[in-house]
Amino acid sequence: MTTMTRRTVFAGNWKMFKTHQESLDLAKGIRDGVSEIGSREVIVFPPSSYARAVAEICRGSKVAVGMQNMHFEQEGAFTGEISPPMVRDCGCRYVLIGHSERRHVFGETDTDVNKKVKAAFKNDIEPVICVGELLDEREKGLTAEVVRRQVEAALSEISSDQMIQVIIAYEPVWAIGTGKVATPEMADEAHRYIRQFVKSRYSPETADALPILYGGSVKPDNIAGLFHMEHIDGVLVGGASLKVDSFLDIVRVT
Ligand code: PGA
Repeated sequence: MTTMTRRTVFAGNWKMFKTHQESLDLAKGIRDGVSEIGSREVIVFPPSSYARAVAEICRGSKVAVGMQNMHFEQEGAFTGEISPPMVRDCGCRYVLIGHSERRHVFGETDTDVNKKVKAAFKNDIEPVICVGELLDEREKGLTAEVVRRQVEAALSEISSDQMIQVIIAYEPVWAIGTGKVATPEMADEAHRYIRQFVKSRYSPETADALPILYGGSVKPDNIAGLFHMEHIDGVLVGGASLKVDSFLDIVRVT
């Protein structure tokens, strides 16, 4: 039995921000600023229209590129959607799946999320699966149950071999874009449930190797407390990833 080292990942989700030129400038700034980060991994998720250009800029560097969303079908009459082969064709190695805005603004279900995870593997794309509870669910004490349900559904029919390439991001919905960050203890506890579930469903080794990122109002001034928690293996950053300096301050946390 081999023990795998758990990866440390810093991801920036640019959402629906930035023009073409601004995306290129941000990508260059990040690419040039991450040369000294050792084994830390950096992924950026630019708007789909600029993914290919950002991937060109980041080629051969420490910065990998991902798409913020994709459809689960290979092709078809799905106006406005992006297929998994298109994601690959844009130079993306990763895809964000089930981000809370996809679930709660665009009505994506746990079943859609699972179809997208399977489509990612079929196309050799690595999924970053997002889960997280609503404020109301947290207040009712349902956090563990909701997160477990989302993770279980997302991973339905995903094999142990495929699990090696999965990244999970825990993003409590009430903390996204609100400035209300979960305390390091709250985040760590949710990450622990996720790891426990993966351990029961797969194996202790698989659970131990799984990178679980925290997302929700991560900023340079709160990253240190989060990052030092046992089960937090990196972060998925929205607002603070839109500026080179603030994102690099997060990536370089000590
Ligand atoms: P935020 O977004 O950092 O702006 O809260 C996080 C996310 O949506 O991934």
